[in-house]
Amino acid sequence: MTENYKEKYRPQFHFSPEKNWMNDPNGMVYYKGEYHLFYQHTPFSTLPDFDKMHWGHAVSKDLIHWEELPAALYPDENGAIFSGSAVVDWDNTSGLFDDAAGLVAIYTSHDTYPETNRPRQRQSIAYSKDDGRSWTKYEGNPVLSDENITDYRDPKVFWHADTNKWVMVLATGHLVTLYTSPNLKDWEFASGFGKKAGSHDSFWECPDLFKLPVDHDENNQKWVMIVSIGDNPDSKEGSRTQYFIGHFDGTTFVNDNPDETVLWLDFGRDNYAGVSWSDIPNRDGRRIYLGWMSNWRYANQIPTEKWRGAMTLPRELSLISSDFGVSLIQKPVLELSTIQKDISIYQEQTIESNTPVSFSLSHSLIEINVELERVSSSNFGITLQHSDSEKTIISYDSQLEKLFVDRTNAGESGFSPSFSTIQEAPMKMLAGRIKLQIFLDSSSVEVFANDGKVVFTCLIFPSEPCQKIVLFSDEGTTRLASLKLTELDS
Ligand code: FRU
Repeated sequence: MTENYKEKYRPQFHFSPEKNWMNDPNGMVYYKGEYHLFYQHTPFSTLPDFDKMHWGHAVSKDLIHWEELPAALYPDENGAIFSGSAVVDWDNTSGLFDDAAGLVAIYTSHDTYPETNRPRQRQSIAYSKDDGRSWTKYEGNPVLSDENITDYRDPKVFWHADTNKWVMVLATGHLVTLYTSPNLKDWEFASGFGKKAGSHDSFWECPDLFKLPVDHDENNQKWVMIVSIGDNPDSKEGSRTQYFIGHFDGTTFVNDNPDETVLWLDFGRDNYAGVSWSDIPNRDGRRIYLGWMSNWRYANQIPTEKWRGAMTLPRELSLISSDFGVSLIQKPVLELSTIQKDISIYQEQTIESNTPVSFSLSHSLIEINVELERVSSSNFGITLQHSDSEKTIISYDSQLEKLFVDRTNAGESGFSPSFSTIQEAPMKMLAGRIKLQIFLDSSSVEVFANDGKVVFTCLIFPSEPCQKIVLFSDEGTTRLASLKLTELDS
């Protein structure tokens, strides 16, 4: 981040645009040593203008330090530039690159039908021959349209080597529709997924589809489909993200779980529209995910001034199996070590009820790794004490077998009645313990519990940097098995 990113609430180790509005991450692709991050951007306002949405652009060599570049895609005669993806066309299948490789962005053009003024969404492409610095819109745009579907957006495209074709997953109302193409220009319908499966609390957005080994076993691979679900005023959560585990043969995705199973990616309120990076080299083998750290319920009201919107930490995704089936786990990327500074390791000790144990902080950006073992307490955890009256409480209820993140007193919250929340997730202990990895930035807390099995991504707006952490144990004893505090650089 640049030197002058010191405004109130400005994230220090999460990406946020220098100025104005940002929502979904778009076009994430790795090419020639750079991670590209494009994003939904209204470059002249801190509020979204959907008729004038652009793709903003930033690049990074390590996923943590970002350099913001000029906006990449501007609205044109086909409308505003909505969410989408980018790929490296290694073999010039598109014919756009004079026999070399190049970048192709596939995005939604959003405007209205001239006769009726009804919203119209169609898919378009643009290409770059200079590593993403400048983009040319394809003259045959749009490349895919369907007049019968109004919500028709957010193409995520990948190369499917077994069938030698590009595959597009597209959000189409309450479904994901899959298309295939030999050249990124001509698309053919392949299948639909999701009519009954998963949560239909609202329309579906921003799908992704990729393959991962289960328990690191390359011979046992499963496909993961990620689907974001828009805000539904009747739900308490607002917009959120689900995923499915299954098979994919190049045409059809088949869900492994019964239709009624709903798998949530995140139990916090602020991880939306996330998708994964394309073209991370095979030798690396990582699937890296990034979400928009906000929620449509209150995104337009969050109390930042010069800019509005930040991304989550980038996370490495993997699959693990358990008695409950296969599930997706998220771990913050290893590159975070580039901002780790002083590390303090504390001895194990016993925490009695009514005698919390505090550790003062001399630094406000911090990673906390803590393991708590239940001795007799039914409710134990950690409080992030931002000021005398402001705190975020992360607690585990061993009877309910649930982890909670309480931000009801974590600072400014009056901007939306939906912001002041206690969030919860079902979670089992691991051999009588819970393990928490917590990242605290100026206006967010991310909790990766039990090695990334349960994740909470939460915005908070405390008036002061965190002063201390307090470990507590209600109605009984808890053992602090390990505690490591790591100062993080901005
Ligand atoms: C998701 C979303 C996408 C759309 C974009 C518009 O947050 O609604 O479906 O393409 O934002 O900015």
